[in-house]
Amino acid sequence: MIRVLGIETSCDETAASVVTLDGASAPVIASNIVLSQIEEHAAFGGVVPEIAARAHVEALDGIVEAALADSGVALADIDAIAATAGPGLVGGLIVGLMTAKAIAAAAGKPLIAINHLEGHALTARLTDGLDFPYLLLLVSGGHTQIVAVRGVGDYQRWATTIDDALGEAFDKTAKMLGLPYPGGPNVERAAASGDATRFAFPRPMKGSAQPDFSFSGLKTAVRQAATAIQPLSEQDVADICASFQAAVADALADRVGRALARFHQEFPDKANPALVVAGGVAANSTIKVTLQKLCAEAGFAFVAPPLKLCTDNAAMIAWAGIERLRAGMAEENGFDFVPRSRWPLDSISAPMIGSGRRGAKA
Ligand code: KG4
Ligand code: ZN
Repeated sequence: MIRVLGIETSCDETAASVVTLDGASAPVIASNIVLSQIEEHAAFGGVVPEIAARAHVEALDGIVEAALADSGVALADIDAIAATAGPGLVGGLIVGLMTAKAIAAAAGKPLIAINHLEGHALTARLTDGLDFPYLLLLVSGGHTQIVAVRGVGDYQRWATTIDDALGEAFDKTAKMLGLPYPGGPNVERAAASGDATRFAFPRPMKGSAQPDFSFSGLKTAVRQAATAIQPLSEQDVADICASFQAAVADALADRVGRALARFHQEFPDKANPALVVAGGVAANSTIKVTLQKLCAEAGFAFVAPPLKLCTDNAAMIAWAGIERLRAGMAEENGFDFVPRSRWPLDSISAPMIGSGRRGAKA
């Protein structure tokens, strides 16, 4: 039996979780506590790093205690402490990693520093028992990436955004239209009563041989449409949201379609290939339906873990700890590891020039 306590503090969620695995059965999420700071940041229309760091300091001890209590596992019986050490907001990372080190040192347990993106990448193995290799589409407030997940610690980034992250594009669109933060769900709600054909917004990168994403041109087109019709009626807002969402879905389908084809080429022997989605934007139904259709056409299974495990949480960090323990890779990033605000999943990818500059969420 392996039992790992996970801690996540890389952005605006303070989270702790205990995940257990006994060789014979599926892993168990014994507890999964997530405290969102959305209300603390809402007035500012985005995450404020200093507020986030302070909120993590105030909440983390209690969240860890609650996660242990909820799980029914005593600290003495925990095999290792896994904590997010990057990428993300450095203040929060310091709080989480230092707390984890203190607990591990006091309890005499190993410490495993985890890459937050690895947590997202391995979640589908926790929830769906997926076999390597598979393809991951990570679409959140800070990242828009397609990653070939080939094994524990073996990731290849096939695409990233060259400017804004997709969640960021949703949030900025919402802000321009006077919709509250976080923008994604509000844009989706408004879009439901809108005409997706009213505005012919650009489909960034569509048809380009380059694999990456881009959303800043789309954002500019939205701004131009919105300023051209001031004051905006509720219907105008709905139509802009629906047209924006349609453009995003279309652009995503083009980009992801290319990656599915590449996957078939690189792993021709892989039976039942799968596309996994992660990140808050994966909650969007229009996007989900588009990707489902694309996967069905390309012979891929479409795997969307429960939203609570798609967005930031500590169960994915505890699970990544278990994967590393099992693979004999727990000692690679131990007590000496210092937080890294930037930490690409694969060392060979070019440095991120777009998303990630914000240094925020993953
Ligand atoms: O994964 P997440 O909860 O946090 C991180 O970024 O790590 O993702 C949050 C992002 C925000 O940008 C939010 O606007 C977006 O996900 N989002 C959505 C929806 N729900 C959340 N975007 C589009 N449609 C949604 N329904
Ligand atoms: Zn994340």
